[in-house]
Amino acid sequence: MNRLTHHRVEVELGDRAYTVHIGPGVRALLPELVAATGASRAVVVSARPEGELPPLGVPTLWLAAHDGEDNKNLAAVARLCEHFARFGLTRSDVVISCGGGTTTDTVGLAAALYHRGTPVIHLPTSLLAQVDASIGGKTGVNLPEGKNLVGTYWQPRAVLCDTGFLDTLPARERVNGHGELARCHFIGAEGLAALPLEEQIARSVALKASVVSRDERDQGLRHILNYGHTLGHALERATDYALRHGEAVAVGTVFAGRLAGALGRIPPDRVREHHQVVESYGLPTALPADVDHDALIAYMLRDKKAEGHGLTFVLDGPDGPELVADVPEQTVREQLALLDADRGSPPRGPRETARPALTGRHPTTHL
Ligand code: GLY
Repeated sequence: MNRLTHHRVEVELGDRAYTVHIGPGVRALLPELVAATGASRAVVVSARPEGELPPLGVPTLWLAAHDGEDNKNLAAVARLCEHFARFGLTRSDVVISCGGGTTTDTVGLAAALYHRGTPVIHLPTSLLAQVDASIGGKTGVNLPEGKNLVGTYWQPRAVLCDTGFLDTLPARERVNGHGELARCHFIGAEGLAALPLEEQIARSVALKASVVSRDERDQGLRHILNYGHTLGHALERATDYALRHGEAVAVGTVFAGRLAGALGRIPPDRVREHHQVVESYGLPTALPADVDHDALIAYMLRDKKAEGHGLTFVLDGPDGPELVADVPEQTVREQLALLDADRGSPPRGPRETARPALTGRHPTTHL
């Protein structure tokens, strides 16, 4: 591992600050990071074979993780905690997660709950988890009623984004990661697509770190990271997770552009830019077939951002992205119908263009 050239991004959170290391081979840093925690034992929960990680230098329990939304539930968290207890793990020890975003989310939650908080180090192995999911301390699992409805904030001690893990990533998984990169274009990091992969990851992580360090607990600014996610999460749930997170966020990003246009918040060329950016990453831009719009509306009303304020989206506007509450259901339904109609059409600009005036008439939370 080249210690001089790998990227480092600091997540500035006072006494809970930590470093995200990005580059090929950064997993080699794991033993020294474990030593720095002072742990006398470790549990590694890994979706990758044991041989792919270095020995940690302390007695270690290895547990297999199974990436996937089906395994991201409270039962999995309970099983992990039972293993921790049988191994004699204490909160002076350390838990290590190694896998995709579903693994880092689930193991992160188990570490947060076990003994009311045990140190955790994440080694994300998918592009999606490296650019977003493993950074910023959100942990969580799904309920049948919706995605990520149970969780907590629990910052890791370090994150190791070893780009070597991405060498064998299936093509669909790579495109899946592009979903979070595409949404970066609208929240403060444009032009990532032209950069080398490591640079893309580092820029996305730096954007996230700067947002999280100013609003760790989603009081305002951090909502922008959920650009495209209101419809995205609903689509994942409505398709029983057949649509991957990044694919769903991609469609949600195009939708957010259309909705912002329909509400008169952005002009038509900015609406089209949403479509073009998402498409340029090879991501879907239309709703998948046979998704029930009533179900989407019901899931979107349960979105955590809504906090009882009706249909709530992060939308672009004259002052940049911001949380917009109480979006009229009729407008949402009209835009869903247009996105539905786009399926199978050749790429083009949206037919429903923005109203000329940027009225800003809808209630917003300024970020
Ligand atoms: N993935 C959005 C956030 O971490 O806030």
